[in-house]
Amino acid sequence: MYGMVHRAARQMVLDLHGENHWSAISAASGLGDDAFIGANVYGDEVTLKLVAAISDHFEAQVESMLRAFGEYWISFAYNGDYKSIMTMAGQDLVSFLYNLNRMHDSVQISIPGARLPTFVVDDDNSDAITLSYFSDRTGLEPFVEGLLSGLIKHFGQTGNIHQIGRNGSGVQFQIVLSNP
Ligand code: HEM
Repeated sequence: MYGMVHRAARQMVLDLHGENHWSAISAASGLGDDAFIGANVYGDEVTLKLVAAISDHFEAQVESMLRAFGEYWISFAYNGDYKSIMTMAGQDLVSFLYNLNRMHDSVQISIPGARLPTFVVDDDNSDAITLSYFSDRTGLEPFVEGLLSGLIKHFGQTGNIHQIGRNGSGVQFQIVLSNP
């Protein structure tokens, strides 16, 4: 994955836990500064090594670390270089989800090596939204849950996310809003 993903993971540890924790994780992972160049594309095994080192350090499951990272990613993107792209993608959760592929497409122009997923909104009732996630990667469903939960918060709402099954080659999620 792109180095910006690694940079975001490092920033999450620094913001939430501080420098000492990051130093320990960095040493344990065996990854040097050259794994954190924003515009470089790294094999997914490098990204997974980093994710594993962070989860191990906090004695957390990889899944819960990915969930936390997904949530963090939304504020990282919004407070970093991607505020205008995210603002253009929509002023409310449902519009944003419909525009997600277009938003990723616009990101892809500047990072051509990215393999970005696609999302399809299957149903958008006012209190529950169903959407399908398609990726050539596997195992990132908890990351998607975290991203969706970050988006719910970003739009000032509260709610829960459930993985409800498969949709062809995709995975289907339902967002149930408690304050639609
Ligand atoms: C402005 C905000 C965003 C930017 C700049 C961005 C950019 C990226 C980048 C660079 C990657 C790595 C792909 C690669 O290196 O191959 C990625 C992956 C991913 N993005 Fe986004 N993204 C944004 C927002 C979102 C949102 C809001 C969602 C979903 C709710 C999302 C879902 C994903 C997922 C699930 C992946 C993992 C890759 C996969 O599933 O194959 N992204 N994104």
